[in-house]
Amino acid sequence: IHLFSLSLSWSISECHTSCLQCTGGSSQNCTSCAPPYVLQEGQCVTRCHPGHTVQDNTCQGCHPSCQECSGTSQADCVSCPPQANFNNGYCRTSCPDGLFLHPQGFCQGCHISCESCNGEWPLSCTSCPTPGVLLTSGLCGPACPLGYYVDRDRRCRACDSQCLSCAMSGVCTSCRDPGKVLLFGECQYDSCAYQYYLNTTARTCRGILTHTHTHTHIRTYAHTLTHTHSHTHSHTHTLTHTHSH
Ligand SMILES: *[C@@H]1O[C@H](CO)[C@@H](O)[C@H](O)[C@H]1NC(C)=O
Ligand SMILES: *[C@@H]1O[C@H](CO)[C@@H](O)[C@H](O)[C@H]1NC(C)=O
Repeated sequence: IHLFSLSLSWSISECHTSCLQCTGGSSQNCTSCAPPYVLQEGQCVTRCHPGHTVQDNTCQGCHPSCQECSGTSQADCVSCPPQANFNNGYCRTSCPDGLFLHPQGFCQGCHISCESCNGEWPLSCTSCPTPGVLLTSGLCGPACPLGYYVDRDRRCRACDSQCLSCAMSGVCTSCRDPGKVLLFGECQYDSCAYQYYLNTTARTCRGILTHTHTHTHIRTYAHTLTHTHSHTHSHTHTLTHTHSH
């Protein structure tokens, strides 16, 4: 039996002997094969390439989550790639750093801007390469924007609502309300406490005798306030502390 194909130039040419049907005369132009041969990318071969399965005498690619398979769906895996665990026909992975688990069940590289991620876009970062910080949008940036501070995991966290800027949760470094002054890391006061003067440019209360270590003091006082809820107590503490310098 001779089978022929009609080429674009309207001349009739014979199929390659390996093909059952074809679109041209080369061994790579087959469109079907006689068993036991199977069609793999235009060629009739004895067996499919790795990662393929035979359906209707034609090699079909396995689902990307499988290494080898018995069908094309993600439930048809018979073996899994190295990082994946085989479970009832499925290959499930927890991906190494820098890769994420694609919804189709395979590991895919994060966007280059991310250290780890849950998707392929720059807005899907879950951690950032040093010295970058993770913005609340999921993007990695050089620093947190105004009104945010960096936590231990190098993520930007929103400052308390009364802070314009802050060093950490509960410790403002400047106040949002221009009518308030910064005292003990808080922005709830209209004027500075006794023994403090107001720096009008920074709207910050500074200890008269303690121009140095101001930052440390702010943290100490904020801590004291949080734990005592008593301004009087804090003031006493302040004076004692100041005199010890
Ligand atoms: C036949 O196969 C060759 C090699 O793969 C390819 O370049 C060519 O386009 C094919 N011809 C037809 C008609 O499919
Ligand atoms: C007020 O604070 C700013 C910023 O910390 C500082 O540069 C400036 O010298 C301070 N001014 C006074 C009068 O202490």
